[in-house]
Amino acid sequence: MATLDIKNLAKSFGSVDVLHDINLSIADKEFVVFVGPSGCGKSTLLRIIAGLEEVTSGDILIEGQNVNTHAPVERGISMVFQSYALYPHLSVFENIAFPLRVQKLSNSDVKARVGRAASILQLQDKLSLKPGQLSGGQRQRVAIGRSIVRNPKIFLFDEPLSNLDAALRGDMRVELSQLHRELNATMVYVTHDQVEAMTMADRIVVLNAGMVEQFGTPMELYHRPETKFVAGFIGQPNMNFLTAKVTAASAQEVRVDLDGAITLALPLAGDTVQVGDPVDVGIRPEDLRIVEDGGFEMHVDVIERLGGVCIVYGRIGANETRYCASLAGDARVTEGSMIKLASDPANFHAFDRAGRALHRLNVSFETE
Ligand SMILES: Nc1ncnc2c1ncn2[C@@H]1O[C@H](COP(=O)(O)OP(=O)(O)O)[C@@H](O)[C@H]1O
Ligand SMILES: [Mg+2]
Repeated sequence: MATLDIKNLAKSFGSVDVLHDINLSIADKEFVVFVGPSGCGKSTLLRIIAGLEEVTSGDILIEGQNVNTHAPVERGISMVFQSYALYPHLSVFENIAFPLRVQKLSNSDVKARVGRAASILQLQDKLSLKPGQLSGGQRQRVAIGRSIVRNPKIFLFDEPLSNLDAALRGDMRVELSQLHRELNATMVYVTHDQVEAMTMADRIVVLNAGMVEQFGTPMELYHRPETKFVAGFIGQPNMNFLTAKVTAASAQEVRVDLDGAITLALPLAGDTVQVGDPVDVGIRPEDLRIVEDGGFEMHVDVIERLGGVCIVYGRIGANETRYCASLAGDARVTEGSMIKLASDPANFHAFDRAGRALHRLNVSFETE
């Protein structure tokens, strides 16, 4: 049972506090993605798990055992980095076999383990080539192969796809998800790319400035973001926000006034806000639709037609707040025109002054 628990973890470099009170319980065989903007502490947290960096306070438990003082090699963990660091003069076979040679395994054991890794990663016919003869994606697979042969309890990945072009990243996402299924191993994967997080993770940890904003399944984060940060970070294009004023609040409903012109009655629990409070009202671009009457007006600046969808960028309200709508591919809009947008009240989110979500009522969503 390769469980991973992180308890009350904090990390400082000198006087700089990088991680604050991190608490996470990762289940056996789970694929967990740490996602957040550059500099939020993802790599530091991963390096602490690997034993490459010490905790300032708190505990790391692997299979229930405290490993704070264990050296990296004693933790049963293997890490794949963004730069794949292959030995250019060694063949693919020997690059994958490298950790086994260090452990002085017999030739037949090495052959068996490298063979298995190569077949999982579809590198069987590349084993005699040198890294220089491989594509970027193949090189990254060799680096992953080197990690697989060690039979680690937990795989750690630090932005392993960042150096690849977009099409290859898409392919590799699918491959890594398949790999997780085949190896049936616990994996922790770091990325700044919310699409990678959404597509690969069983559960996602959203990190911001060294703190956990939310830990949940992709669909929980999408439908029930607990903070404005998570709401804005997850989902593409990003959620729209408008500042509004609370005109009435009950446990069942919050009424807000947008821009003095539009009143929305939102099915949110209003026990943490009072009349007159400012709230940030959020709506996802894909939850908006064009209406003939009602709704709110948007001045259309730029249209991106992607075929299946049409992304419309513009401005709304007296403050000309930037707004975005994701509409049907053949939506009849033109740049420079005005359109009216509306949505079902259940699609709106609202966040208090501290950026915490007002709880949503009776909103169900599909999850696997
Ligand atoms: N060895 C170090 N010494 C001092 N500061 C560091 C060190 N490593 C990382 N940091 C700082 O810690 C913060 C988090 O870095 P990092 O974990 O690499 O972020 P991420 O991987 O999310 O981009 C950054 O502000 C970075 O400058
Ligand atoms: Mg990093």
